Amino acid sequence: MADPSKQGLLNGRPDKDGYRRSFDNYDDSESDIDATDYLDRDPESKPPVFAGQSPPTRWSIRRPISSLGRRCAIVLAVLAGIWVLLAGGGAFAYKKYYEEPPYGQSPPWYPSPKGGIARGWAASYEKAAKLVSKMTLAEKVNVTTGTGWQMGFAVGTNGPALHVGFPQLQLQDGPLGIRFADNITAFPAGITVGATWNRQLMYARGKAHAIEARAKGINVLLGPCVGPLGRMPAGGRNWEGFGADPYLQGIAGAETVRGIQSEGIMATIKHFVANEQEHFRQPWEWGLPHALSANIDDRTLHELYVWPFYDAVKAGVASVMCSYNQVNNSYACGNSKLLNGILKDELGFQGFVMSDWLAQRSGVGTALAGLDMTMPGDGLKWANGESLWGPQLTKSILNGSVPLDRLNDMVTRIVAAWYQLGQDDEKKFPREPPNFSSWTDDRYGVPIYGSPSPQDKVEVNKYVNAQANHSIIAREVAAEGTVLLKNENLLPISRQGLPEARLKSRRDNVYRATGKRHEGKFKAGVFGDDAGPGKGPNYCKDRSCNQGTLGSGWGSGAVEFPYLVAPVTALRERFDKSKVELVEYLSDTPPRDQSVLNDLELCIVFVNADSGEGFSKWAHVSGDRPDLRLQKDGDKLVARVASECGSGTGDVVVVIHSVGPVLVEEWIDLPNVKAVLLGNLPGQESGNALADVLFGDKNPSGHLPFTIGKSLDDYGPGAKVLYTPNGVIPQQDFSEGLYIDYRYFDKHSIAPRFEFGLGLSYTTFSFANLAVNPLKTKSAFPAPRPSPAAEAPSYPTITPPASEGLFPKDFRPLEKYIYPYINSTAEIVSGRYPYPDGYDTPAPLSPAGGDEGGNPDLWNVYVSVSVEVTNSGPLAGAVVPQLYLSYPEQDVVDFPVRVLRGFDKIYIKPGETQKVAFGLTRRDLSYWDVQAQNWRMVTEGQYKFVIGESSRDEKVTGVW
Ligand code: BGC
Repeated sequence: MADPSKQGLLNGRPDKDGYRRSFDNYDDSESDIDATDYLDRDPESKPPVFAGQSPPTRWSIRRPISSLGRRCAIVLAVLAGIWVLLAGGGAFAYKKYYEEPPYGQSPPWYPSPKGGIARGWAASYEKAAKLVSKMTLAEKVNVTTGTGWQMGFAVGTNGPALHVGFPQLQLQDGPLGIRFADNITAFPAGITVGATWNRQLMYARGKAHAIEARAKGINVLLGPCVGPLGRMPAGGRNWEGFGADPYLQGIAGAETVRGIQSEGIMATIKHFVANEQEHFRQPWEWGLPHALSANIDDRTLHELYVWPFYDAVKAGVASVMCSYNQVNNSYACGNSKLLNGILKDELGFQGFVMSDWLAQRSGVGTALAGLDMTMPGDGLKWANGESLWGPQLTKSILNGSVPLDRLNDMVTRIVAAWYQLGQDDEKKFPREPPNFSSWTDDRYGVPIYGSPSPQDKVEVNKYVNAQANHSIIAREVAAEGTVLLKNENLLPISRQGLPEARLKSRRDNVYRATGKRHEGKFKAGVFGDDAGPGKGPNYCKDRSCNQGTLGSGWGSGAVEFPYLVAPVTALRERFDKSKVELVEYLSDTPPRDQSVLNDLELCIVFVNADSGEGFSKWAHVSGDRPDLRLQKDGDKLVARVASECGSGTGDVVVVIHSVGPVLVEEWIDLPNVKAVLLGNLPGQESGNALADVLFGDKNPSGHLPFTIGKSLDDYGPGAKVLYTPNGVIPQQDFSEGLYIDYRYFDKHSIAPRFEFGLGLSYTTFSFANLAVNPLKTKSAFPAPRPSPAAEAPSYPTITPPASEGLFPKDFRPLEKYIYPYINSTAEIVSGRYPYPDGYDTPAPLSPAGGDEGGNPDLWNVYVSVSVEVTNSGPLAGAVVPQLYLSYPEQDVVDFPVRVLRGFDKIYIKPGETQKVAFGLTRRDLSYWDVQAQNWRMVTEGQYKFVIGESSRDEKVTGVW
């Protein structure tokens, strides 16, 4: 029998080979390979010829060609031929795909659900409706469309509706700080936040981030990031999110959203969905005409990849960014099943969907499929001023191909989100552009940087300091996100090197073994480029290189560091110079002169691994990492230092900064590698936070947000990045289903090196008295979907007069800037629009929906599980009790061995006991039933709960 966990395509009808390859459900808008071709045109009509069109363009003028010219032409033709072949993605080698690119496998879901049905948003929708009803057609289109790349101060700016008082919105990256800005905080990255397992810190970091956004004049933050989820440990952008588990991502994402939005800034949860790798994430970036398709079955989509978005929507997130890639062979930003069906109907999302930057690949199709805002406004190419919406959307409304009520819904969603966050309060949100420019550091510059039109210079950078005291939060997150992986009686060290008694016994031991006695100052050494400042933290654009200490990955998720405390700087300050001699060797090549190492009693080696967004590469790392090895020969460095430190008698501490899991097999069992710390990506306070943990000022409490395996193979075949295209549209089948990261290791009984959730402390904790307290009776399905708590606004349906879409008289447009206007009514071509199959049949509403965050019953707590935790060791410290659930055994449905369904972080003094309780919601106890298209609880058999300090630590268990 087929593995039932993999059953269920998006349409809930399993087919025999797992993925629908035929065209029986073919649907134009879902394939949206059409790009602009269909836009506003009658497909039968000939290309329009305009009266007064100038005769032969310069390309058609024939000129005599010289022989040099001919040779050049031949060379160019050959090069072009090679390029075409390569761009075809090895089309000849993959004839099958070439001849029949699979598309349209995602079922249609129409019409797009209107916003305004949730109680929590009703007041904002009411206000929005009043404003929107006063807007002209051009104003409405303006609000939905970005003004173009670099056509404002921020990375994204839409158009205003000035005469009704709706301002331009300023959108800025990203998940770890304000991108392209001065005087801001470079917070630790998402993966470090995930490693803290501390909800309060997740919230606090989000809040601080938003305070800075407000101080800089930003309305919408382009974060947090919960996708990629981490299916592939080498995936280039995993570090922007919180870890390879949907529950952890969900909690961290929702807390961050709450933190950000508590300050009135709109959060954007991204990337929806399955942008799990950078290779082929978008057309042309990798030479191919199309983005890859992540092919995911319905159950996996719900239980893994969509799961954290549920939490974010429940938390009231204002905006969702759809991703570059295709899902089941339909671009995510034009996939009606994903946007209309899952996000807006099932999850009840009330805010607006914005495209990732150039992720929109069709005009009408994306509007119908549920996209509400196109960013940065440019269409298929960067910065050419040709939008797929803007004037095209105006025409589509005027010729009737996009229903007016869809446009009204798009705008209402955006305006309602603005009211929902209180951004109509001019005192808090003055109607001014940001006080910094993303495009220049100079004080004065042109306001519309990307336009070649002449403009007067204005003050574009005011250098406003937004940092407040956020370095404190940054340091706390970095320290609590540091994971102690190994510690054989070495850490914490002391300012004098080692506490006196330990130092004496150490020296005695060495003397007994070698006949040599260390006298005088304690000698310690620091090794590795990752310990030092390198050429400065901002040496490479967008942080796209690995030099100096690693504080973040690269790409849009990175910021300009205001400073970066290198580990060596902090160590230098912390050690007592009268007692400790510190040797610094800030290079990845160990010293030639062995005597440098032979004298040392303690060696601290720094190693790392970096990755980032696919638009940029460093060395052999093209966004995604090529493997899980330490970079810059880190393994060799550790091995050399270990063998020579104190001639083999010195103690070695390895510190890793990394974007994700790294292999440690080459040195982890070396006898003098006594301690290993994983600092993840610590941000600007790196050195200080590390020193806090090393010296014991902070008892380590970080836990792994992913599994560290012994090899990449151990993560399973699905965990491998697709580096070479397997077709014109690369196909990536998520055939491992639910089994990623620890779920895969558990299912196949593979021993990881360090399991998911693991993290050591300088103290110990004991667990007792697990109690299961049922609060509601088990029942298979949630209560019936409630009827909407509010009514979506309705507007007149009469098509506005075409004059509302025309350029105003005497308007002098800036070149390349995107406006909503058309030049003349002659541009409005009407005819039959080829609507997708299924467009006229309203899709059934999901029983899992009904409110913001889905059916409210999904969030009811059905059982509570509590446990008593005692600090049984000598030091105060924070513990992370983790609750893993095993579903009742069943013949029909396959379940992972265990899944994370609860965690908390509590600070306990030695000898003290605290009780922790976890409330498990209906969703926590359910799986996605593809037949019923609903979350289903297992009513027979027993749920098993395990609480411990990692995914493989069974401290106490209970059943329900
Ligand atoms: C990234 C997004 C980012 C956007 C704007 C895209 O390349 O994928 O995460 O928000 O750029 O910078």
